[in-house]
Amino acid sequence: MSKEFKRTLITTALPYANGPVHIGHLAGVYVPADIYARYLRLNGREVAMIGGSDEHGVPITIKAKKEGVTPQDIVDRYHTIIRDSMKELGISFDVYSRTTSDIHSETASEFFRHLYDKGEFIEQSSMQLFDEKANQFLADRYVTGECPNCHAQGAYGDQCEKCGSSLNATDLINPRSAITGTVPVLRETRHWYLPLDRWEPALREWILDGHKEWKTNVYGQCKSWLDLGLQPRAVSRDLDWGVPVPVEGAEGKVLYVWFDAPIGYISNTKEIFPDTWEQWWKSPDTRIINFIGKDNIVFHCIVFPSMLMAYGDNYQLPDNVPANEFLNLEGDKISTSRNWAVWLHEYLRDFPGKQDVLRYVLTANAPETKDNDFTWRDFQTRNNSELVAILGNFVNRALVLTHKYFDGTVPAPGEMLDVDKALVEEIRKLKGEMSEAIETFHFREALRLAMDMARAGNKYLQETEPWKTAKTDMERTATALYMVIQTCANLAIAFEPFLPFMSEKLLRMLNGDKISWDMLGCFDLVPAGAHIGQPELLFEKIEDEAIDAQMQRLENIKKENQLKAWKPEPQKEDVDFDTFCRSDIRVGTVTECVKVPKADKLLKFTIDDGTPEPRTIVSGIAQHYPEPEKLVGRQVLFISNLPPRKLRGIESQGMILSAVNADGSLVLAAPSAFVNPGALVQ
Ligand code: MF3
Ligand code: ZN
Repeated sequence: MSKEFKRTLITTALPYANGPVHIGHLAGVYVPADIYARYLRLNGREVAMIGGSDEHGVPITIKAKKEGVTPQDIVDRYHTIIRDSMKELGISFDVYSRTTSDIHSETASEFFRHLYDKGEFIEQSSMQLFDEKANQFLADRYVTGECPNCHAQGAYGDQCEKCGSSLNATDLINPRSAITGTVPVLRETRHWYLPLDRWEPALREWILDGHKEWKTNVYGQCKSWLDLGLQPRAVSRDLDWGVPVPVEGAEGKVLYVWFDAPIGYISNTKEIFPDTWEQWWKSPDTRIINFIGKDNIVFHCIVFPSMLMAYGDNYQLPDNVPANEFLNLEGDKISTSRNWAVWLHEYLRDFPGKQDVLRYVLTANAPETKDNDFTWRDFQTRNNSELVAILGNFVNRALVLTHKYFDGTVPAPGEMLDVDKALVEEIRKLKGEMSEAIETFHFREALRLAMDMARAGNKYLQETEPWKTAKTDMERTATALYMVIQTCANLAIAFEPFLPFMSEKLLRMLNGDKISWDMLGCFDLVPAGAHIGQPELLFEKIEDEAIDAQMQRLENIKKENQLKAWKPEPQKEDVDFDTFCRSDIRVGTVTECVKVPKADKLLKFTIDDGTPEPRTIVSGIAQHYPEPEKLVGRQVLFISNLPPRKLRGIESQGMILSAVNADGSLVLAAPSAFVNPGALVQ
């Protein structure tokens, strides 16, 4: 890393306080930012990691309305949950504050006022959607309608979630108020706009020429925004929740949430460094890194930098914006509104003490270059066959063997052979590769390399077999165990940014205290003669039951969502009464029901239809009735006057009626009380 920087300011996207945080937020922003911050601190660098809740914006007011509480109630609730759960996961914020703090409204207000006084805004009247029933303007998510680009229904006034395009409320086709459901009218209103087009040349130079090293997804998005041409963007809204616009005659107007939220990074820095905060923002020897998800790129690379340039006064632009792509859950997009997520506070409740397992899986699977998928099976496999079987197993063997052969005292090593030197070399090589990977924001690669250190340890044990040499050559055993104990100490350092809880526990077992990245690759970290503690397990196997319970929970949510989204099929075309009467529908009693061999879907019913001859009907509902023998004795409805059909060589004499559920499952239709077999349904 270049030495010209004195300090690093790490910002993490401020999560909206309208819900708890989920694994998507963690994998995209907080875990990578934390790895980076911890790595720099281990390197003795001066770091400030800034976080906080984004407590303004329309979704929060909509949620409050729905629940009949105030927006402040909503943000108080979720700010607390978010702050506490991230702390428990070990996300090492230097500050985690909120945009409803006094210092933030002062800072954001002053920022706006400064731009206003400098003439950096355009003031403009425009026609905006207005809900006459609710008597208010409909900003952003207060309107839904058809997306003008992809024609999906339910697009919001600021964005279509289907195709991802950002929208103006007035672009929506067939807009509806999210408050009253009424059709909004157009009404004139005045707002302040930041003319992004003024900053286009500067942005081009700064990003397109100056930051070719940025991740391709980030650079590419910036380039396409810039190539499309930038336009003035409104930075105020007609709303009663937010930082009031600090200009006379602006009653009922607040700063747009995307104007005030990034200023939150500055306010939160002020909160911890009231005297020196300017050093972190205005000094060229500070390096600013913004950790965000891909939906935030334009705000961090185009809008906020334009605001900072417009402000002037030496505000520095970020050096890098390592945005991640999205993490999906079991193949589907994570969604707060559809409750399709693994919520951090629930994870911590269901898997107490397993913070590092989640950190590990989210990093190993981080959506660094493309969207990725979290599955509970993968979570279990990575825990059981990587954390337990590779890392935990190595450390455990090292400690157990040292206790067994040397009573828990680190032995003095004898002569170093090639196999020993190779281990040292391997760990030093991996350290170099890890540093490079972390400094270029390739955290999954870095974690894989750390795991390779543990693999190298296991391989070394296999090669040296200290339990065998103990019978013939105690000096060899001493050397090998000295080496593996040093390797354990190296692992405690290498994994600290990723698995800080494991690292701390391991260090405690080795009776170590202070560590630094410089120490990584050294083989004198735990001196000969030192005592080590009793081995405790670093990771434990996760059983199927725990995973099944999580999968079941997701299944239930999927069902609930299907039910919520379910709409009855549109009505079929009219038939005349006589045509209908020609269908012969009857009640029958099932006397036998078996699976049709080699056909997944088919059941063969034998039905008592009141005639001496039993009737055979083949029906495609096998997947919905896995135990067909249980249907014997049940009554069903069937159409008896269809022409017979051969299915898999069986002649089917009619069709059994069933209803189609929201999730596509089929349920047999039946009379509500016993009826003589063969009775007509009319
Ligand atoms: N709340 C926004 C989101 O979740 C992120 C805001 S980042 C900030 O998408 F820079 F504006 F703070
Ligand atoms: Zn769309």
